Amino acid sequence: MRLLLFCQLFFVGIQASKLGVSPPSQRDQVNCQLYTVQPNDSCIGIISNNNITYAQLLSWNPSLNPTCSNLASLNSSSICVSNPKGTFSISSNTNGATIIATTTAPIPSPTLDQTTSRCAKYYQVVDGDDCSHLTAQFAITLKDFLFLNSEVFQNCTNLKSGYYYCVEPVGYISTYPGYLPTATTKPFNQTSATSLPYAGDPWAKFSSNVSVIPIANNTRVDCYSYTYVTNLTENLSADCWNLAMFYDITPEELVLWNPSLGDDSSSGSNVVSDETSRIASAIAVPTTASSLITNPYTYPCTLAANISYCVALVSPTADLPTTTAPPGPHASGEVSNCTTWFAPQAYNTCRDILYIAQLSFADFYQMNPSVGPDCSGLVVGTNYCISTYPNGNDPNEWDGDASIPSASSTGIITPTPIQSGMVSNCNKFYDVHSNDGCSAIASSQNINLSSFYQWNPAVKTDCSGLQASVYVCIGVATTSASITTTSKPPTGVITPTPTQSGMVSNCNKFYDVHSNDGCSAIASSQNINLSSFYQWNPAVKTDCSGLQASVYVCVGTAATTTAPGITTPTPTQSGMVSGCNKFYDVHAGDGCSAIASSQKIALSSLYKWNPAVKTDCSGLQASVYICIGVATANAAAARITG
Ligand SMILES: *[C@@H]1O[C@H](CO)[C@@H](O)[C@H](O)[C@H]1NC(C)=O
Ligand SMILES: *[C@@H]1O[C@H](CO)[C@@H](O)[C@H](O)[C@H]1NC(C)=O
Ligand SMILES: *[C@@H]1O[C@H](CO)[C@@H](O)[C@H](O)[C@H]1NC(C)=O
Ligand SMILES: *[C@@H]1O[C@H](CO)[C@@H](O)[C@H](O)[C@H]1NC(C)=O
Ligand SMILES: *[C@@H]1O[C@H](CO)[C@@H](O)[C@H](O)[C@H]1NC(C)=O
Ligand SMILES: *[C@@H]1O[C@H](CO)[C@@H](O)[C@H](O)[C@H]1NC(C)=O
Ligand SMILES: *[C@@H]1O[C@H](CO)[C@@H](O)[C@H](O)[C@H]1NC(C)=O
Ligand SMILES: *[C@@H]1O[C@H](CO)[C@@H](O)[C@H](O)[C@H]1NC(C)=O
Ligand SMILES: *[C@@H]1O[C@H](CO)[C@@H](O)[C@H](O)[C@H]1NC(C)=O
Ligand SMILES: *[C@@H]1O[C@H](CO)[C@@H](O)[C@H](O)[C@H]1NC(C)=O
Ligand SMILES: *[C@@H]1O[C@H](CO)[C@@H](O)[C@H](O)[C@H]1NC(C)=O
Ligand SMILES: *[C@@H]1O[C@H](CO)[C@@H](O)[C@H](O)[C@H]1NC(C)=O
Repeated sequence: MRLLLFCQLFFVGIQASKLGVSPPSQRDQVNCQLYTVQPNDSCIGIISNNNITYAQLLSWNPSLNPTCSNLASLNSSSICVSNPKGTFSISSNTNGATIIATTTAPIPSPTLDQTTSRCAKYYQVVDGDDCSHLTAQFAITLKDFLFLNSEVFQNCTNLKSGYYYCVEPVGYISTYPGYLPTATTKPFNQTSATSLPYAGDPWAKFSSNVSVIPIANNTRVDCYSYTYVTNLTENLSADCWNLAMFYDITPEELVLWNPSLGDDSSSGSNVVSDETSRIASAIAVPTTASSLITNPYTYPCTLAANISYCVALVSPTADLPTTTAPPGPHASGEVSNCTTWFAPQAYNTCRDILYIAQLSFADFYQMNPSVGPDCSGLVVGTNYCISTYPNGNDPNEWDGDASIPSASSTGIITPTPIQSGMVSNCNKFYDVHSNDGCSAIASSQNINLSSFYQWNPAVKTDCSGLQASVYVCIGVATTSASITTTSKPPTGVITPTPTQSGMVSNCNKFYDVHSNDGCSAIASSQNINLSSFYQWNPAVKTDCSGLQASVYVCVGTAATTTAPGITTPTPTQSGMVSGCNKFYDVHAGDGCSAIASSQKIALSSLYKWNPAVKTDCSGLQASVYICIGVATANAAAARITG
């Protein structure tokens, strides 16, 4: 064994040294045709010279690397240029090329009806044939055989001996109708559409610069609605208890949902304006009939600016069990159907209540007669009625008029607050707004500035004393027998000078013409029609050419029928209050609130004086005069009982 191995190695070694081949695969190389590598040889040259393929050269010579780049290192050694395992060849196809039949064979007989007539070859079935035999013999698939002979069962149990069956199609069988599955195509109906090119930045909607308003510390985060106040100044919502009232939630709920609003007397971190804190501290809790337990939510509480607070839950909490007992003590003679009360504190003014409850004084007085016509009867700690509506909501719009009448000796209602030192015979008042100036007020009220300063000494002659929300006097009773005195005839009117010549003698209202005035503008601003204006001032002429600056014109005449000294224009609303001394020509588009607001009267007064208008304003008619002022005695009555 060992000797044999040795001999073999020896033999090989002899061969190797003799043939000069490298060791691997040397055993095979004896059987191949050898080629000695020459210095300038390339593999491509070798294969083309020896009629072999590149793959053959590599597979026969494992010492060559796949790219043949090491051929030079095999300089002078021999490589195989024929198969060392011997010569092999693929046996040729003895069956010939596959032939596609092109001619249709004549139909033999008998055939079955459903055997195809387009057939290249028929075969007559004999006893013992079955489909597997036929398909093998004629190299046809069962599927194709069944297709060409469609009467044959799938299980091939009904071949009939002696009948001819088709065993070869003509051409490709796939061209036979019904061989391939029919493509089911659904018709596509083009729907009409307009293609719009997308304009703009498609990502724009995904970015937002809306600043995030943080939620207050410990406020619950599952609320349905949050609110925040950007400027605490003069915003009633900044007060917690007002906020609760606005959102129709109890103070307890507000504090439960927003624990940071809890009573933390030690904190005092809320920086609020004087006005806000005044309002906040002015608020005593309105107690509704549904929560009569002693209310601990009376401490001053103000929201922080730009912080969100929860004001509504997704599922509102159920109402507390209702009780019919009103809080006590309450004011004597209060309206019987009261639902909400308010107990003023020592620091409350009557005006505070009107603001808080959004009531006109007339409404407040009606519900609480004990406060008196000038609210002087207001008693600390007493619960006053502030609403007769369920839940304390007043569905009517508040016109913002929180003025409180005060009885004066002249019968004129003096609003409050007023400038100190105001003349006692003032009969016309103006509620100063924050941006008003003295000249502007005097000019708009058709009074001269010196009279204005004279009537309002506290304003000072440089206007430095003018205060917003404080009433100033803009008219005085001209004589002791003013037009407000019902017994005084219209002759009591003092006619200013100079006046237009030919002016009507019963004029009781005058207008000092300014340089840029026009007749239409004057008539319009004075709520008189232009024809009356021309009639009362003939010197002006009907083309207004006679209008002269600094000369008084007549803008009102004494009436013959209603309030003395007052002309009632026509048409007017039926049922209008008697004693009306100020009228307003309704224009298309006017609303009752707007009229009341612009004329500085309470909406309730407007309704009271003009019953035909109805309290939902539905009776207001364009081009029909309504009453917007009554002789003061009546006015007081109307406002106080209204
Ligand atoms: C290789 O070829 C060179 C000439 O190019 C020759 O001198 C040399 O003997 C050959 N054989 C070997 C093994 O390098
Ligand atoms: C080898 O090939 C180079 C160029 O390919 C040629 O210059 C040189 O003469 C050749 N040498 C031999 C021995 O054929
Ligand atoms: C190359 O080999 C093929 C068969 O592999 C043969 O048909 C052909 O004649 C040969 N060519 C030469 C030049 O030997
Ligand atoms: C073969 O198929 C036919 C028709 O589908 C059927 O009636 C018959 O019973 C089948 N025969 C057998 C043995 O399953
Ligand atoms: C396509 O339109 C025809 C005729 O208008 C209608 O009969 C058919 O149902 C429509 N096909 C589809 C898929 O809407
Ligand atoms: C948002 O802010 C960016 C930069 O602060 C500004 O370029 C962009 O115009 C703003 N987008 C809107 C919608 O204000
Ligand atoms: C919330 O609490 C933090 C720390 O306790 C305090 O700095 C922050 O001012 C508080 N925010 C509000 C709105 O109270
Ligand atoms: C008060 O704040 C609320 C909430 O931000 C706001 O809706 C309301 O307009 C503010 N009122 C005034 C008078 O600024
Ligand atoms: C609250 O935010 C508004 C808008 O960003 C800003 O104008 C206002 O000054 C802020 N108020 C306070 C008190 O920071
Ligand atoms: C808040 O409003 C008042 C007047 O309404 C104004 O004077 C003040 O500057 C405002 N404060 C802020 C922070 O906007
Ligand atoms: C409450 O009663 C007064 C008169 O007693 C009535 O004018 C008012 O409409 C009533 N309020 C409600 C909400 O019914
Ligand atoms: C201002 O008007 C009053 C009458 O209302 C008049 O007595 C006074 O002289 C006028 N003053 C000036 C400067 O016109």
